[in-house]
Amino acid sequence: MLDRLTLLLRLLSVFYTCLATAHAAAQEPLVPQAYKVGDKVPVTCLNRTVETGEHITDLEGHLSYIPFWTCAETQRPLELLFGIDTEQNCTIDFVSDPFFHLLEFYVHNDAPLTCRIPSRPLPPSALKDEFEKGVTDTTEGQGSLSEVYTPLVVALAGTLQLSHLHVSAGMNVLVHAAPRSVAPGTIAAATAYSISRDPPTRIVIGDPLPLRFSVRWYPNTSLPSGWTGVGGHLTFSTVVYCGLSALASAAICVAYFRGVELPRRLKSHGKDRLGGMERGGSGLGGYGLNGGSVNGGFGYGPGKRD
Ligand SMILES: *[C@@H]1O[C@H](CO)[C@@H](O)[C@H](O)[C@H]1NC(C)=O
Ligand SMILES: *[C@@H]1O[C@H](CO)[C@@H](O)[C@H](O)[C@H]1NC(C)=O
Ligand SMILES: *[C@@H]1O[C@H](CO)[C@@H](O)[C@H](O)[C@H]1NC(C)=O
Repeated sequence: MLDRLTLLLRLLSVFYTCLATAHAAAQEPLVPQAYKVGDKVPVTCLNRTVETGEHITDLEGHLSYIPFWTCAETQRPLELLFGIDTEQNCTIDFVSDPFFHLLEFYVHNDAPLTCRIPSRPLPPSALKDEFEKGVTDTTEGQGSLSEVYTPLVVALAGTLQLSHLHVSAGMNVLVHAAPRSVAPGTIAAATAYSISRDPPTRIVIGDPLPLRFSVRWYPNTSLPSGWTGVGGHLTFSTVVYCGLSALASAAICVAYFRGVELPRRLKSHGKDRLGGMERGGSGLGGYGLNGGSVNGGFGYGPGKRD
């Protein structure tokens, strides 16, 4: 009887533990492990001191990443859209004095504009931190290689003048996803760079900085070749063109040979034969003359040959 009671109690306790675990699991926020097309990918950048451009770390030496400047277009820090190629504008409304000094560091390459994007969706709590107070990189101290984030270094081009800056505000952003077969919905590599050939934007303190981003996504980590000119990839049209020109030149060769070269050769061949005959004739005639009447028979030689 006592045994049965203990068994019942034990069963009850197992049931309760099970229930409690299930409840706790339900409380945990569900974190998707992969981006879907169109999901927002927040961009955060390394905070730097205005005085020296050095990166800022917390007490434990972790790098401090803060949200990208707020774009006037969206009223939010810059976000990329997973898997979507877009032209995206981000106007920073007001270039403050400290921001101007940071821009000087960036365009002079005293310090890189080091940003990063989460390789997979972040848990909602972390995402909130990303946007509200910035997060410190607890995954990998000082390094830029972490499973959680993918580095996105923005190569901002420009020149420093006495009173103002020229900044190439048109930028290309390239983002590689990991191949679907390996890790679907995951970012593998990224970069951004100014198109320095474009006319730069003149900036003084207090101006807006209108950044324009051309964002392109790639389904794996290999870059497709976009070059179709000299030394580029062999395309179908190139093959067709080469084939046609080969045929055309062959046709021209045949036409030239039959129309010009062949008649010329035939003519000269005929002349050669005629000349030979004439020479032979005179020679024989000579014999005939030299040999007198007896040799006259030779005179018939050429006639017979024909
Ligand atoms: C960046 O660092 C500076 C200097 O430590 C600090 O004043 C500023 O609040 C930081 N920025 C953000 C968004 O945390
Ligand atoms: C971005 O800004 C440029 C002018 O700076 C404008 O021509 C273009 O239409 C804008 N693009 C978008 C998507 O808003
Ligand atoms: C990578 O993606 C491109 C399309 O951009 C495709 O043509 C190529 O075959 C892919 N390469 C590999 C190794 O999967």
